[in-house]
Amino acid sequence: MTLTVAVAGGTKGLGLTIAEALVVHGKHNVVIFGRKRTPGLDEKLPARLVVVDYENIQNLTEALESNKVSDVICTVNAHGSSLSERNLIHAAENSSTTKRFIPSIFAGFAYPVKYPEVAKSKTEVLEELAKTSLMHTAIYNGMFMDFYGSPLLKSNVGPFPMFVDIASKMAAKPGSGDEAIVLTRVLDIARFVVRILDLAEWPKESYIIGDRVTLHDFVNMAEEARGTKFQVTCDSKEELEAGKITELPCYSATFAAVGKELTKQLYAQNGLWIIGKELDLRPASTLNEIFPDIKPMSLREFLELSWKI
Ligand SMILES: NC(=O)c1ccc[n+]([C@@H]2O[C@H](COP(=O)([O-])OP(=O)(O)OC[C@H]3O[C@@H](n4cnc5c(N)ncnc54)[C@H](OP(=O)(O)O)[C@@H]3O)[C@@H](O)[C@H]2O)c1
Repeated sequence: MTLTVAVAGGTKGLGLTIAEALVVHGKHNVVIFGRKRTPGLDEKLPARLVVVDYENIQNLTEALESNKVSDVICTVNAHGSSLSERNLIHAAENSSTTKRFIPSIFAGFAYPVKYPEVAKSKTEVLEELAKTSLMHTAIYNGMFMDFYGSPLLKSNVGPFPMFVDIASKMAAKPGSGDEAIVLTRVLDIARFVVRILDLAEWPKESYIIGDRVTLHDFVNMAEEARGTKFQVTCDSKEELEAGKITELPCYSATFAAVGKELTKQLYAQNGLWIIGKELDLRPASTLNEIFPDIKPMSLREFLELSWKI
């Protein structure tokens, strides 16, 4: 069945990749919801941009109905505020054409459910959705693999590496480095998201496993891709608990943008989650099992395509 899908926040990042994948797939009508026009950029978007006012539920409802949107894929990243997405959920519930909603979760693990205090906005979104009659599924995909890319492998998601600084040939493993994490390439997340639209029923949670590697193996693969040994340190559980991390050169941009102390807290928290095996997703079922023809890119291949010359 042909659907009309609105990708909210589809002007960049994961949402843009999902919109591109939907258009290439070609089965469904696609519109992108965004907050403003940007002449020169809008024409390059894969689908028509619908400008919406996320503070106005009536405006959002009209945008959904006038475009006959049946499915909303929300990839809005409002950095800690859930208001835009909660308003969109209200509008989708009000809209006579809209039946399904994928919220902007796409997380490393189910922390909005497990640790609601660190993911307040995502938790609020999930609570809002649960009150509606909309069919919905929260997607968990591990860390974005694209955070570890280089300009050689194009992505709509820029580099944002944690623990392994491939450009500087350095790494700081949380704990022993023997714990595994799941990473998924953004394009592979988009492939699964497109296909999930074909399912008649959605589970409350959907899991995508791109690759599963220990930090130790991750560093070895990165060293092989670069053809040289890295300078490697280990941050112990006690150091991370005290908010101390090895300050890799790649963190400087985030230190400048977000503030050093906040960034260190965030990375130390992530390190502790890795030591606690939280990012080693072991769900009862995965989208990989439902769509075995989708073969996600391995981390080794991703690193070789990104860094091997
Ligand atoms: N698992 C992981 O490792 C990982 C990593 C990064 C992100 N994520 C998750 O993936 C999802 C997408 O993240 P992303 O990095 O792709 O997002 P992004 O590129 O930072 O932003 C996506 C869109 O959000 C929209 N936006 C920003 N502030 C907004 C607001 N206040 N109200 C409404 N729209 C707003 C912008 O659209 P307009 O300006 O066009 O309106 C933007 O194009 C999020 O749920 C994020 O938490 C997961």
